[in-house]
Amino acid sequence: MNRENPLVLGIETSCDETGIGIVRGTTLLANVIASSMDEHARYGGVVPEVAARAHLEELVPAIEAAVAESGIRLEDLDAIAVTSGPGLAGALMVGVGAAKALALALGKPIYAVNHLVGHVGADVLRLGESDTVPLEYPTIALLVSGGHTSLLLVRDLTSDVELLGETIDDAAGEAFDKVARILGMPYPGGPRIDAAAATGDPRAIRFPRGLSRPKDMDEHRYDFSFSGLKTSVARWVEHREDAGEPVPVSDVAASFREAVVDILLTKAVAACADYGVPRLLLGGGVIANARLRQVAIERTDAAGLTLRIPPLSLCTDNGAMIAALGAQLIMNGHEPSTLDFGADSTLPVEQIQVAPAPVVPAVRGGNDGNTPAGVT
Ligand code: KG4
Ligand code: ZN
Repeated sequence: MNRENPLVLGIETSCDETGIGIVRGTTLLANVIASSMDEHARYGGVVPEVAARAHLEELVPAIEAAVAESGIRLEDLDAIAVTSGPGLAGALMVGVGAAKALALALGKPIYAVNHLVGHVGADVLRLGESDTVPLEYPTIALLVSGGHTSLLLVRDLTSDVELLGETIDDAAGEAFDKVARILGMPYPGGPRIDAAAATGDPRAIRFPRGLSRPKDMDEHRYDFSFSGLKTSVARWVEHREDAGEPVPVSDVAASFREAVVDILLTKAVAACADYGVPRLLLGGGVIANARLRQVAIERTDAAGLTLRIPPLSLCTDNGAMIAALGAQLIMNGHEPSTLDFGADSTLPVEQIQVAPAPVVPAVRGGNDGNTPAGVT
């Protein structure tokens, strides 16, 4: 196995995106994403069974498309990487099964990795000649999507990731989707709220910032809560409707968006200060939010922090970030996973790689690095 510049195919199926990525070391060769979002629209959120079935249909065509896009041959791969968790169990199982089958058929090692750490891994990819600054450590990472809202302290991508806090109820993207529904907008709500908010007044209504009171700060300093905010928006809209008054949709959208952005960045910037970390990395689909990006730039500038935001195609769930994390593990000398790993819907973020094989002595016997560990 080429450990200096490994060619890795990554498979991501933790939610509603079937993502296949191919990287060589830190160079992105292909990033194919097939989303089943449209199929979930009429339910107002991701339906796990529908997502899993869509992965089954999309996986093989997505692998073929990624191989064609990259110009590589599957035989040339050094390893397969796959998301083992966290995520939707049924959806994860499809990717895990496919990755094991591919690894066995090709006789390649497999790396089972953590989806959340993968989001951070997206940032090690170099996207051209001008992209020369590598990810530096330590970094605080704020990951916000429809499925997660997590604040991480990353001391080392392949060996030391600590969960500082996460949402105790809804994910930030989920809150956008629910509030959009209250305002009569279709799923996914994030982009619609963002668009409506553009012409609204963010100070029109003061919505609550979850877990920001002094007593919350003791126990939930870096945790988030968005369900109270969602309820508060629902009440406000109901009062208006009950009074027979029109609902100022743009102002509600802008005020809600402001509350989400404010609390996300207040806590992320505080974590940087508390831990003496001079950089902040953003990831997840909610990073598409225009106001979030703008306030992130303003606040990190004011606090003297470096801000990193990967391109959106690498912020939303994708296979390239999984391949990138797999490649980093290989380059840092980690052994492949044994084949006795499964899908783990609640995989803790500290577990960067699942079921790593025990380190084998360099001389005599042991894995030649070309066979999945556990296969004899
Ligand atoms: O990372 P992602 O593509 O995947 C999942 O979580 O499945 O994130 C999707 C989430 C959805 O909740 C969507 O409403 C939200 O990201 N989102 C946004 C924006 N664009 C997408 N939220 C706020 N503002 C946006 N512009
Ligand atoms: Zn994600």
